[in-house]
Amino acid sequence: METPRGKPDLLIVDDDPLISDTLNFVLGRDFSVYVAESRAQVKSLLRQLDNPPQLALIDLGLPPTPHRPDEGFKLINELIAYSPSIKILVLSGQNDETNARHARTLGALEFIAKPCEPEKIKALLLKSLQIRDAEISAQSGDGGMVGKSLPVEKLRQQITQYANAPFPVLIEGESGSGKELIASALHRQSQRASKPFLALNCAAISPNLVEPTLFGYSKGAFTGATTSRSGYFEDGKDGSLLLDEIGELPLELQAKLLRVLENGEYQRVGETQSRVSNARVIAATNRDMRQELRNGRFRADLYHRLSVFTINAPPLRDLNEDKCLLLDHFRDFYSHQAAVKAFDLDTRAMALWLEYSFPGNVRELRNIVIRLTTKYAGRQVNAEQLQAELDMESMEIDLPGLPIGQDFKSVLEAAKKHLQAQKNFNLDLTLQQWEKGYVEAALLITQGNLSQAAKLLGIHRTTLYSRMQNYGTPGDPESPPQ
Ligand SMILES: Nc1ncnc2c1ncn2[C@@H]1O[C@H](COP(=O)(O)OP(=O)(O)OP(=O)(O)O)[C@@H](O)[C@H]1O
Ligand SMILES: [Mg+2]
Repeated sequence: METPRGKPDLLIVDDDPLISDTLNFVLGRDFSVYVAESRAQVKSLLRQLDNPPQLALIDLGLPPTPHRPDEGFKLINELIAYSPSIKILVLSGQNDETNARHARTLGALEFIAKPCEPEKIKALLLKSLQIRDAEISAQSGDGGMVGKSLPVEKLRQQITQYANAPFPVLIEGESGSGKELIASALHRQSQRASKPFLALNCAAISPNLVEPTLFGYSKGAFTGATTSRSGYFEDGKDGSLLLDEIGELPLELQAKLLRVLENGEYQRVGETQSRVSNARVIAATNRDMRQELRNGRFRADLYHRLSVFTINAPPLRDLNEDKCLLLDHFRDFYSHQAAVKAFDLDTRAMALWLEYSFPGNVRELRNIVIRLTTKYAGRQVNAEQLQAELDMESMEIDLPGLPIGQDFKSVLEAAKKHLQAQKNFNLDLTLQQWEKGYVEAALLITQGNLSQAAKLLGIHRTTLYSRMQNYGTPGDPESPPQ
């Protein structure tokens, strides 16, 4: 997907013309630079490009809310939806670090504090490009789904089982949890593997372009349709079609999708003649589809058609043992790619790694490993150094603590926030997680000293020990309590 011109494409998004002009001037020698100052401008720019840019350098505070990071956060989501392989670097002001940290959870690779030497920015961009190229060449292998936990084993079984079935598959899961990876594994393991695998993110393009993109159009069907063109159902007619963010599919198109799923029939926009496609549809979503059904935003008949086979991509916070495997896997990959020695996590950093909830799932984990490889090649990383790479704020939302001494009202607030943020809430599980969180925190604080940790928690050492065993918390099994 490199540009024929040889220079990699770089998208710069900043509403301060002084910054974007300077960067454009300096970086223009090495990159084909595209400049935009808002999300809206980025959208129309991307529509005009044949291929999405490989790199993006973005500010968080953008119009219409230049003093808040929201637009930048949305832009990160949109850019990744548009091109999952894009590498995003965030340019952040001095007092913007917390937001920049959250940007990493959303999928940005790194943030660069302003002001920064253009040469340094250039070096970071070139390095990100190398990382991207290495990732793309690695993908041509078996797709590399890492994980040995029960949920991931189940996932593998489901993929094998569903790969050749004549029905659609619906993949549900949080952002960054591997839905696209699962979809491409379904394709690669099927008899369609040598046929095209096409992916359309329904959220990434404007709603009126979804239909012509999926079904094609005839010349003159709408303004701008100067020639007739085939769509995804035609180009991928014997292959697989990933319809990502299916919840975003406009209602009127849902009927047309249902028809093509039922009998393979569809029409190009502007034509009356029916065509037939045998494309295997894989749909993905990070929304709660049942909620969408209840709200009338998604047709029940289409949902039932799509969800004959449903695969759930588990969130990484539920896959503790895989957090270690993924760490090893990406650490080897990226240190090899950068030709440096791997970093290591010390005991407390490792405990923090296991405790962290990775709200951005595998994508976030991978980006953390890339940064640690750059900063600590061949060295040991301690818990403080690791913590600087994590988004601890999101963690509070994910697992609200109920610290001693809080009055009931704030407990209520925390619980409310938690309930609203969780799709499938389970009280027992949440209480268990709280307990486990406190146990691990006490062990972290006391550096694994059971007696001190028990004292901190206000429980007996034997009680602590048995709970640690229940949770499989790493501890000191050599010295069980007397
Ligand atoms: N089990 C896994 N083993 C190795 N890599 C993984 C695994 N799961 C996800 N990844 C990697 O993590 C990144 C994010 O995964 P992917 O793009 O499939 O997520 P997604 O669920 O489609 O996210 P989004 O909702 O944001 O589109 C990709 O680079 C993918 O290759
Ligand atoms: Mg995806």
